[in-house]
Amino acid sequence: MKEQIILGIETSCDETAVAVVKNGREILSNVVASQIESHKRFGGVVPEIASRHHVEQITIVLEEALKQAGISYDDIDAIAVTEGPGLVGALLIGVNAAKAISFAHGIPLVGVHHIAGHIYANRLLTELKFPLISLVVSGGHTELVYMEEHGSFKVLGETKDDAAGEAYDKVARTLDLPYPGGPHIDRLAHEGEPTIPLPRAWLEEGSYDFSFSGLKSAVINTMHNAVQRGENINPADLAASFQESVVDVLVTKTVQAAQEYDVKQVLLAGGVAANKGLRTRLEAAFQPLSHIELVIPPLKLCTDNAAMIAAAGSILFEKGKRSDLKMNANPGLELETV
Ligand code: KG4
Ligand code: ZN
Repeated sequence: MKEQIILGIETSCDETAVAVVKNGREILSNVVASQIESHKRFGGVVPEIASRHHVEQITIVLEEALKQAGISYDDIDAIAVTEGPGLVGALLIGVNAAKAISFAHGIPLVGVHHIAGHIYANRLLTELKFPLISLVVSGGHTELVYMEEHGSFKVLGETKDDAAGEAYDKVARTLDLPYPGGPHIDRLAHEGEPTIPLPRAWLEEGSYDFSFSGLKSAVINTMHNAVQRGENINPADLAASFQESVVDVLVTKTVQAAQEYDVKQVLLAGGVAANKGLRTRLEAAFQPLSHIELVIPPLKLCTDNAAMIAAAGSILFEKGKRSDLKMNANPGLELETV
């Protein structure tokens, strides 16, 4: 079989990323330029700053990815680019870079949904086995996605308010921790005990939807009430209690969905998949369910990168999906329609 080389481009938020992936599974290069340092002092991503950084970085990152992979434009079969969702001004930089290369070198173009990318990060580790579900937990998304075959996505449930990563970042801000707060809360949680009672939003019986804003408010109120009463709250205990509430709901609903849909695999995806508490609890929950394979990507493939976009693009390309030069950044792109 002729080998397939996909160039992946990702600029939906605050990482400028370009990767080269062979046959949908083998990473030849995966270059990520993070802007976290520039956004830190604002406590979150500033869209205008993100766009400006992408403009400055995209050509450099692109050249580096081609160099590390040891290929030229002639070797590329298709360009996979994140079309949405994300920050429109940030997405536009990647989409326009992809269209320019496509036009200049006559290379086919494939638009990719960012969440499909997070899910397909798992295919860089192991072959996917269907049916499967993926727990997607990132700064912008919390979703349980069912897949019957390659390229088909059914959202079983999603967050009704804050995404899991967003709740982590907001709670971290209350605890005066730097942005992005997820890794800091995770670290702190391991130094404390979950002794502070906090709510868990299970929603209606059998629902796979999530809600984290009530929990986030409960953490903030607990902090403020303690300050008003002149009491000391151990931030590590608060972090541990918050993390336990989040992880409890995520793991319980994932196990329920895996059993109801009788899946062969469960894939973890998105930036919050880097969370050690979540990884440990998921591993423990699926250990007795030996007929279900739990796949957890390494940290580098959990957070935003372009190898995952190339991996998803590879399948879409094989399935015949082609985008044209009319493709635009689509911040509200739906997963189920790709
Ligand atoms: O997938 P990602 O890199 O970007 C989006 O598409 O949103 O996810 C970033 C999110 C941030 O909210 C960050 O705080 C969270 O992932 N995150 C974590 C951890 N590492 C990153 N959340 C909890 N625990 C972690 N260890
Ligand atoms: Zn992401």
